[in-house]
Amino acid sequence: MKVWIAGLVALLSLPFPLSQGLAHERMEHIKVPADYRGKKNPYWTDLRAIIAGSRIYKEKCELCHGPEGKGDGILGRTLDPRPADFTQSRMMAETRDDYLFWRVSEGGGFPPFNSAMPAFKEVLSEEEIWQVLAYVHAFSHIRLLEHRPGEEIQKGLPEEGEED
Ligand code: HEC
Repeated sequence: MKVWIAGLVALLSLPFPLSQGLAHERMEHIKVPADYRGKKNPYWTDLRAIIAGSRIYKEKCELCHGPEGKGDGILGRTLDPRPADFTQSRMMAETRDDYLFWRVSEGGGFPPFNSAMPAFKEVLSEEEIWQVLAYVHAFSHIRLLEHRPGEEIQKGLPEEGEED
């Protein structure tokens, strides 16, 4: 477990060009609304945030996005359009913070998405959205998540109530 966490920390500390690069194909025509534009995730590499995000993911996202983030959750498999595959590192690397935050906040119930992606702005706090995005982002970076990392991560969690 120690080794695993050390590996995670090492991998997460790599500098990844998250908000650079070309636009994601679909995003070329999609403008992030002014209310969301320019927002930045304070937590991409924060292990505590990723761990907190793993709990949120299990509860709120896994059904559709799948245990490994491949878009193949029990419900996700039945949807059209299908949920995003977060293991596509190219896609994730080309997707900007503000775009992801907007998509989780407002969901997909409007054009051009017209999808079953729910809006979470009334369900999750801003901090929780960044946490779950930090976890989702880890799917694309770490083969770490190959064997249900959610579960692995949970084992290393501090006890409930043990905050700093
Ligand atoms: C009811 C099923 C469902 C649930 C639950 C769900 N999603 Fe989605 N999500 C989708 C679908 C379908 C899409 C693809 C269509 C779209 O982009 O709207 C999607 C797309 C997304 C995208 C956009 C990806 C991109 O590249 O454009 C993000 C980010 C996302 N989901 C994150 C989450 C997070 C985080 C949660 C949990 C807090 C979550 N989703 C819960 C169905 C779901």
